[in-house]
Amino acid sequence: MIAQNLSPLPIDLNPQCLPQHVAVIMDGNGRWATRQGFPRVAGHRQGARTLKALLRCCKDWEIPTLTAYAFSTENWRRPTEEVDFLMLLFERLLKKELAEMNREGVRISFIGDLDALAPSLQRQIERATKATAENQSVHLMVAANYGSRSEMIHACQKIAQQVQQGKLDPTEITEKVLSQQLYTSDIPDPDLLIRTSGETRLSNYLLWQIAYTELYFTDTLWPDFDQSAFHQALKEYGKRDRKFGQVRLSA
Ligand code: IPE
Ligand code: IPE
Ligand code: MG
Repeated sequence: MIAQNLSPLPIDLNPQCLPQHVAVIMDGNGRWATRQGFPRVAGHRQGARTLKALLRCCKDWEIPTLTAYAFSTENWRRPTEEVDFLMLLFERLLKKELAEMNREGVRISFIGDLDALAPSLQRQIERATKATAENQSVHLMVAANYGSRSEMIHACQKIAQQVQQGKLDPTEITEKVLSQQLYTSDIPDPDLLIRTSGETRLSNYLLWQIAYTELYFTDTLWPDFDQSAFHQALKEYGKRDRKFGQVRLSA
């Protein structure tokens, strides 16, 4: 992140009504680039800049956790050149941004099946995770080779092993037990999920964790999702009545 002045919380946003955890499906990079006559990968490069700006916004506005979908388990189906470019971009960004993330107090961690990533990328992931583990100003979770279904299968396998070893009785399998075996254990569920680019699907993202998350879809393409677009999303979130299955007695 470029050192710059703190951007104050817009006055029409109530700090009491802000989400504590925002998850984003950063979609539309390819279309953004194609529309401007650039190769698709130029959209990914610009998309990374957008993420950086959003992270700064979360820090300034005291939104403690941002989870960004960077690469899904299904994205391996893309042309090899695009996949290779993305992997190289992740690795380069991790190297380039680490010092600044540390200076800014950013904690970075990753969710997903990281073992399937290139060893050199895994090393950068490990390095960045360890180096920033104690940072407290904002937590960026990057979903890389992430898929909800595979996450849940891994969780089931781990729980089944515990049962097989006699450490857990099947009747003791609760929501909490399952949550703890997910990549997101110890992280509160997202309050707000944003998907850009006009697509209104979840694409295998955080399916367990978003059971009661507010969903926000916008036509804006990810590289154009700037501070004012985020402001709009937060304003909309502030109007939502989160009932969690209850009835409001005052209504
Ligand atoms: C999202 O943008 C980024 C990744 C999936 C890595 P896309 O690349 O999906 O962009 P569109 O949907 O093709 O425009
Ligand atoms: C979801 O976007 C995955 C990421 C943003 C990393 P996609 O563009 O891959 O999703 P689909 O294929 O349109 O559902
Ligand atoms: Mg897409």
